[in-house]
Formats: sequence, C-alpha cells, structure tokens
Amino acid sequence: MTINLLVNKEGAKISKYLYGQFSEHLGRGIYEGIYVGENSDIPNVNGMRTDVVNALKDIHVPVLRWPGGLFADTYNWRDGIGPKDQRKKIVNTNWGNVTEDNSFGTHEYFELLDQIGAEPYIAVNMGSGSIREMAEWVEYVTMPGQSPMADLRRKNGRQEPWKLRFLGIGNEAWGGGGQMRPEFYSDLYRRYQSFVPQYEDEPMYKVACGPSEDDYEWTDKVMQIAGPFLDGLSLHYYTLPAGEDWQSSKTSATGFSEDLWWRTIDRTKKIDEIITKHSAIMDKYDPEQEKNLVIDEWGTWYDVEKGTNPGFLYQQNTIRDAMVAAINLNIFHKHAKRLYMANIAQTVNVLQAMLLTDGDQMIKTPTYYVFDMYQNHMDAEFVEGFGKMPANVSYTASKKDGKLTISIVNYNLEDSEELTFSFENQFNTVLSAKLLMADAMDAHNTFDNPDQIHEDKITEYKLLNGDLVINVPNKSVVTIALR
Ligand code: AHR
Repeated sequence: MTINLLVNKEGAKISKYLYGQFSEHLGRGIYEGIYVGENSDIPNVNGMRTDVVNALKDIHVPVLRWPGGLFADTYNWRDGIGPKDQRKKIVNTNWGNVTEDNSFGTHEYFELLDQIGAEPYIAVNMGSGSIREMAEWVEYVTMPGQSPMADLRRKNGRQEPWKLRFLGIGNEAWGGGGQMRPEFYSDLYRRYQSFVPQYEDEPMYKVACGPSEDDYEWTDKVMQIAGPFLDGLSLHYYTLPAGEDWQSSKTSATGFSEDLWWRTIDRTKKIDEIITKHSAIMDKYDPEQEKNLVIDEWGTWYDVEKGTNPGFLYQQNTIRDAMVAAINLNIFHKHAKRLYMANIAQTVNVLQAMLLTDGDQMIKTPTYYVFDMYQNHMDAEFVEGFGKMPANVSYTASKKDGKLTISIVNYNLEDSEELTFSFENQFNTVLSAKLLMADAMDAHNTFDNPDQIHEDKITEYKLLNGDLVINVPNKSVVTIALR
C-alpha cells in the first residue's frame, strides 16, 4: 500500500502544547510521584524526585496543567503558600478523603516547572472559590511591581513574578465542577474572565470549560454566549474500554480479552468524530478559527490495580496504552488547525501515566515511550497524505527544519503491514528509525522487570527509488525521521 505524502503543500502547525501533561492532587500523582519533600531519602532537588524530573525533561513536556481536575474546585491557593509547618491540612474530598498537607503549592509548582522546563497552566477554583481568590492568585503569581499579593509573594521568598499564560476558568462545570447549565456557566465565565488581572505584556490565554465527550449542545451554548471572551474551549474525553457507563467496571488494565482490546481502540478512535463535530460548531461562531479547542483531559481509564485505594486511580499501562496514545496523537495532528493544546491524564501514578513509582523505584510506561518517539512532531508542520491505508493502521507525518518525520501505529494483534511512503524524492537519508513493540497484548513494565517494553531500533525498512518501504510489526509504534 502506498501513501503519498504532500511534502510541498503547506500544512498547519502542530502545536507543541498537544504534548501537554496534567497533574492533579490525586492519589500518588504529586505526593510520592513527583514531590517527596526535601528531607526524603529518595534523591531529590528541592523536594522534586530526580528520576521523575529527568524522565520528564527528556520528553520535553511543554505545559503542565495543575492543580486539578476536580481538586481545583475545592482548592484555596492560600493554603499552599508560606512556611510549610504552618500550612493548613485539609481533606481531599474528591480523591479518597485523605489528608492534603499543602506542602506542594504554588511555589513548588513553579519550582517543578523550572526543573522540567515546562510552562504553567493553572486551573482556578470556579466551583467553590471566588472571583477575588482567582484575581489575587493571578496577582500573586504575575504582578511585577508593588501590590499586596506581590509583597506577600516576596515575603515567601520569590522576588520576581512568574510567567503565566494559560488559565483555566471552570473544570467540568457541567458535572463535578458545579452541575451548571451551559447558559449559567457561560454567564459566570464571562464574569470571572472580566476580573483576571493582566500584568504581563502577553495576554492571558483563557480556557473555558468545554464539553464532555459528545455534548454538542454545551459547545454550542458556550460558544454562543461566551465565545468572544475565551481563547480555548476545553473538551474532556476518556477512553473507557467497556463503554460510556461510568458506574460499571472500567475493566482491568492488564489481563484483558481481545474483545476489550478492540473496544478500547474503537472507543479511542471516536475522538476524531468528536473533535470534528465540536470544531464544526466552533466554526459557526468563529469562522476565522481564532479560538482553539483544548483537550485538557484525555487518556485511558481502567479499574484501579488490585489492593490500591479506589480513590487514587492507579492503573498499569501496557502496549495497548501505547496504541491509544499514538492513535490519539495522530488524530490530534490532523486537527492541528483548531486544536492547540492537549493534556494527557495524568503524568505520574494516575490513569494513563508516563511514569509509575514505588518507593524509590520508577518505571517508564509504554505511553512514555510514544511521547518520546513523537517529539519531532512538536511545533512541526503537518504533512497531508493520500492513498489507501490498511485497516488497523494509522500514521502521521510532519516536517521541520528540513526533516520529515513519519510515525505509524499498527494495532493489529497478528498481522504486520508493509507500507510504502512516497515523498516526491526529497528525502534520501534515514536519520533515525525507532520501534516500540510487544509480544503480548498486555505486555507492560513492572518494578521487577522495568525494561520489558522499551524503545528499540527498527531495521525492516529500505529506501527504494526514493520511497520508504517499511514493515510495521503488529502491536507496534514506529517513528522514522528522514532528511
Ligand atoms: O483526571 C481525573 C478526573 O477526571 C479529574 O479530576 C476530573 O476533571 C475528571 O472527571
């Protein structure tokens, strides 16, 4: 099968923010997973575990959404500043009713971002907080001159303001964020966004709460009422293998049937149609496509690992998750014109994580490796292709700095696929050829066997008459870069 890549045609820019992450105060996502405190035996710098920071640095996380999720709508940022021994100990009512000691707050968040090189994306508390709380938080973070909040920040040890561009106003307002109707939320959003102070030259990028999955009415109403006042509209879409019933079992992350493999794939692919339809509604109100869709929560959601706290959402991550990650990223690239940011849920130890930790041990998941292999696509130009693809294979291509990168995912359980990519004889040197594959459909890394699945090199390819001919194994992700 031949795919012709239109390498000379202008394509949309694939925003690097599509490779964003999301970390919430949930389970062992932040505490243990990222932040262990300065006095921990686990090697750390200012409390941030070094193994996790290094792994995240390597995949160049562009942006990290924090502090929630649902947690954001109970969070008072003032609880997380000042001397740690004086910080309030609260109950995390959304996630297991455990004690939240607020030792990871605003200063720690920006320290983490500094260490991994990511930009901030703060979700403010619209559910149970106030406009004043939100405005003062932004003042605390971004005010360069003298002001009550800037002075307080300095008292807490930070002279210069931080840079903050992305601000989320309302998380799942249609559900756990306040059970609002779209009309009510939209008016409230208009009011909140009016009081976001602007101290930096670059205007704040305001993200409004968008729809859950295929709730097109939500998108329509919010765009109609609040469209002129937002920059991004956030969609949440999780891949639940067993279907959309949130109350029944979400099935196991490992040891699943072939049927569940295919249902997971089908469910994840549905995001393509969902993005298309929400985008079409946005086009109605924003024909110039100046506003963006932002998918600030996505990924797989299974039952928790046996014996772990049900409120902690800790799940294993197999080659099936790698398929899901690659399929989603391929779809996101296709929608690069409208889609500006996406944040996979959640970076460490929660849902479709990049990394899992156990005490001082850390493993990289198959999903991590996909994010690693796809890095060339960040801020690259989308390359359109045509030609018939075999079923159960998806690909994406982009170009940047004279390089063409092609990524392919073959989610067949048995069949490998031979594919030919033609690119107008313009690329004749293979710079790198990476492969992630597994024998079993639930193959995964464990703390005893941390390298069961890892990035490898693919050798089964050749350049023939200016084309790339490649044999893509079943259950694999491949990325080839050419010059
Ligand atoms: O990511 C876990 C939770 O899923 C988030 O807190 C919430 O926004 C969503 O329902």
